[in-house]
Amino acid sequence: MGAKCNSFLLLSILIFFQSGCNNPGEGTGKEYQDSVKLTIMKSYFGKSGNQDVSLYTLTNDNGIVIKITNYGGIITSILMPDKKGKTGDIVLGYDNLNQYIENSPYFGAIVGRYANRIAKGRFTLDGRIYELAINDGDHHLHGGIKGFDKVVWDAIETKDSAQVGLSLSYHSKDGEEGYPGNLEVKVTYALNNNNELRILIEAETDKPTPVNLCNHTYFNLREADTSVLGHMLTLFADKYTPVDEGLIPTGKIAPVSNSAMDFKTGRSVGSQIGQVKGGYDHNYVLQKNPGELSLAAILYDPETGREVKLYTTQPGLQFYSGNFLDGTITGKGGKVYRKHYGLCLETQHFPDSPNQPGFPNAILRPGEKFSEETVFQFTVIK
Ligand code: GLA
Repeated sequence: MGAKCNSFLLLSILIFFQSGCNNPGEGTGKEYQDSVKLTIMKSYFGKSGNQDVSLYTLTNDNGIVIKITNYGGIITSILMPDKKGKTGDIVLGYDNLNQYIENSPYFGAIVGRYANRIAKGRFTLDGRIYELAINDGDHHLHGGIKGFDKVVWDAIETKDSAQVGLSLSYHSKDGEEGYPGNLEVKVTYALNNNNELRILIEAETDKPTPVNLCNHTYFNLREADTSVLGHMLTLFADKYTPVDEGLIPTGKIAPVSNSAMDFKTGRSVGSQIGQVKGGYDHNYVLQKNPGELSLAAILYDPETGREVKLYTTQPGLQFYSGNFLDGTITGKGGKVYRKHYGLCLETQHFPDSPNQPGFPNAILRPGEKFSEETVFQFTVIK
C-alpha cells in the first residue's frame, strides 16, 4: 500500500474511533494489547445431515460483531455502528441454518472449488478434457451442485493479543463435482481492533486443478431497509471482462472509460445501472501488481455514514448488484430481499480462466500453494 493510502487508512481509523468509542482515550496501541472485549464465542447453530454446525461470534473493542458459521464458511452477520451510533447489520443472510441449507444464493459463503462460471462445465488441462457438474443453465457456477458453500468445515478458534479468529479447513476429494485432485483448503478469518476482518484463503493439491476461491458476502449498509442503488462505489479498475448472454467472458479485456462500467472515481451504484443489461455482474481487472495487497474497492453509504474498504491480493473483483434477488427471499429479521437489495464485491480470479488463455493463470499444481488475502475494513464517517 502506498503512503497516500496509508495516511487515508489512518484517518479513517481515527474517524471510526471518534465515532465508535465511549472513551476518548480508547483506540491507542496499548488498548489493543490490553483488550478485554476482543472475544470469540461458540454456539450451536443446528445440524447439516448428521453433522453438528456451530456459529462463532467475533467481537472487537469498538463494537464490531461478526458471526461466522462453519457451514459453508458463511459470514451470517456483521454488526457495526452508523454515524448516529446506532448498531445495525450490514450483510444479507438468514436467522437459521436450515434456511441456508434449503435455499441460499451464496449469502456470505466461501465459494469454490472454482468461484463464478466455467463455460459448459468443461475445460482441457494438460491434454485431458474434464467435465464438471452443470448447475447454471449450460454452465458450471461456484463449484457446482454441492460447492464449498454447502459443506461443513472443520473449525478451530484462534486468539492472540491483536486479533480473534476462526480457522476453517475442508478436504475436497479427487473427483468432487468433476474436479481433479485432492484439494486441502484452509480459510482463516481474523478480526482486529483496526476494524478489519482479514480473510486468508489457502489451498494445496495433489493433481493439477483449477482453483478460484472467494467470499460471497452481500453488503447493504442500510441494513436492507432499501436497495443499494444509493450506495457510493469506487472500484480501482480501469478494465473489465465483457460477457455474453450466459455471463461467460468473451475473452476481451475492455476499458471501463466513458461507460456505465466506470467506477474509478466513485459514483452511486444506481447512477447508470439502467444502461447495463441485467445489472452489474462483471469481473473487474484490478489495477495492481500481481499478488500485492492493495485497495480494490470502497463502498460508502452517505445516509448511514458506513463505509467498507476492500483490500485484496487477487487479480479481479466480480461486482454483482444483486440482480437475481427478486423479493422471494425473506431474510434476517423478516426483511424481504428485493432486486438490488444487496451487492457483492467478490475478490477472485477471472471467471472461466481455465478456458481463457489471455487471463491470469488459475491452475494450481502439486507443490504450489494457493494463497490469497482479502481485507474488509469498516469505518464510520460522520
Ligand atoms: C455471482 C455471479 C452471479 C450470481 C451470483 C449468485 O456474483 O456472477 O451471476 O450467480 O454469484 O446469485
